[in-house]
Amino acid sequence: MATKDELLLLLEKSRGRVLSGEAVAQQLGISRAAVGKAITALRKEGLQVEALTGAGYCLPKDSDFISEAGIRAMPGGGGFELRVYEKVESTNLLAKQWAMEENAPHGSMVVTGCQTAGRGRLGRSFTSPPGGLYMSIVLRPPKGAPLPMLLTAAAGVAVCQSVQALCKIQLGIKWVNDLFWQDKKCCGILTEAASGLENGAIEYLVVGIGLNYCVKEADFPPEVAAIATSLYPNGGAPVPRTALAADIRGRLLALFEDIDKGEFLKEYKARSFVLGKQVQVLANSPYMARAVDIDDAAGLVVETPRGRTTLTAGEISIRPQGRGE
Ligand code: BTN
Repeated sequence: MATKDELLLLLEKSRGRVLSGEAVAQQLGISRAAVGKAITALRKEGLQVEALTGAGYCLPKDSDFISEAGIRAMPGGGGFELRVYEKVESTNLLAKQWAMEENAPHGSMVVTGCQTAGRGRLGRSFTSPPGGLYMSIVLRPPKGAPLPMLLTAAAGVAVCQSVQALCKIQLGIKWVNDLFWQDKKCCGILTEAASGLENGAIEYLVVGIGLNYCVKEADFPPEVAAIATSLYPNGGAPVPRTALAADIRGRLLALFEDIDKGEFLKEYKARSFVLGKQVQVLANSPYMARAVDIDDAAGLVVETPRGRTTLTAGEISIRPQGRGE
């Protein structure tokens, strides 16, 4: 590990505490001058580390710098392959390339704080300004893999659990994978699967999660700001994004282990705010229906005057004339 990364790990593990230059130099086995150089390098990368004359260095508790060291220092942040970038086109794209070309193992994760070409469902783009948490996890399911839709639903539950545990915010789920806060979308999930040519079995899945965490409202284009929100648009988040990334990953992997038991669907249903409501099914010819249940494969059971049907793909709107909001 490079000296500056070792230093960053040390600072991350001692968030909010002042470390004397002497102590840091001793722990890393380097000179005081080398510590100063590494601090300068980290600052150039955007880390806001405080230097207190005569006392030492301190990474403020509310630092929201995303780095590998930052994630590694968090509970659940170790024991897996991890790639962290300041800015990328799309973490799903990178995770798929990693899985395909370099055989990324089960549980590998790609994280960034800004995407320039974020991908959404149904071929749409996903606006990904700075301040968000954009992460993709590679899963290599055993034979008889769960349906991607079930996995997407599990990812929704994992994010809700994390946000509730770390931020004390209760999100709602709009089938199948949109998470809402204060009547606006704050998180989208895109699951992409790759199947083997010979037997058609799923080789790997990439679950991409885009959480609008500290995105400033002004950083959303107006048409997105009308339907999307961020959890902390004015700052003041209780935990850094690195903590959420590690926690969400841990919860998703745990849910994935037992996904075939479908236990998590109870929580999914409890968090769903469409059940019992009139929704618009955005088919070729959109129609109104009442959402009545979620089935064992995370399909949405809807009722119309002509009877019941289960939606296994596509999208619903909770506002007539809407486009997926
Ligand atoms: C949707 O709501 O349409 C799904 C959005 C999924 C966005 C996430 S952000 C991380 C990952 N990388 C992408 O390019 N997309 C997913």
